[in-house]
Amino acid sequence: MLEVEGITKRFGALVALDNVSFKVNGGRLGIIGPNGAGKTTLFNVISGFLKPNSGKVKFNGKDITGLRPSKIAEMGLVRTFQILKVFKSLTVRENLSIISEDSRELLEIVDLWEKRDVLAGNLSQGEMRKLGIALALAKNPKMLLLDEPFSGLSPLECESLVEILKEVKTPMVIIEHKLGELFDLVDRVIVLNFGKIIFEGKPKDAVKDSKVVEAYIGEDYAQN
Ligand SMILES: Nc1ncnc2c1ncn2[C@@H]1O[C@H](COP(=O)(O)OP(=O)(O)OP(=O)(O)O)[C@@H](O)[C@H]1O
Ligand SMILES: [Mg+2]
Repeated sequence: MLEVEGITKRFGALVALDNVSFKVNGGRLGIIGPNGAGKTTLFNVISGFLKPNSGKVKFNGKDITGLRPSKIAEMGLVRTFQILKVFKSLTVRENLSIISEDSRELLEIVDLWEKRDVLAGNLSQGEMRKLGIALALAKNPKMLLLDEPFSGLSPLECESLVEILKEVKTPMVIIEHKLGELFDLVDRVIVLNFGKIIFEGKPKDAVKDSKVVEAYIGEDYAQN
């Protein structure tokens, strides 16, 4: 579905992405790596917010490199943002109704139906994140790009979001630092370090890989 071919992105002298290539054919893929590794830059390139210096992004066989973000989203490749823009003085349901007629079904999927009449401005972090997922799903995505969906959430909120995402059958690419939650969701993981892919494979093998342990995970996690 998604083919990333030799993407390089420079910011001045900094090479944020260095010849990155991978494919996603359904399922859920995790992207991990230290701060500044280039993960969000990769999403920005894929979703059209940044143009790469070289390389190609293809989605369902079509070259989407350099297309406008709105066009890419229309084609079914939809990303979520860490800071969700909603109308705080409208209710959960009203926010969703702006873009979808099926607000009930979507709110049930993300477990927010009970909160449908709450003003969006009064939602907790976890509920806000769920609303973000519902708004993304309202666009009928063929693939979702989630950038740190668990950041800032409590352990209970994380647990609840994991269960919700497990029920969503849309293929996903998920950037995340919370490895426990991520590894519960994905069957494959890519590790970025200084803009390069240093590992691709199963989560259980990633935590044992010496390059990954050295660059990111650390000895403690590897031993547990
Ligand atoms: N618009 C930009 N202009 C200049 N430098 C940038 C820009 N965006 C990102 N960078 C730099 O590119 C590198 C990769 O940043 P990026 O945000 O992709 O990292 P990340 O892997 O998402 O990190 P984190 O885990 O902290 O979110 C960093 O050194 C960052 O400072
Ligand atoms: Mg980032």
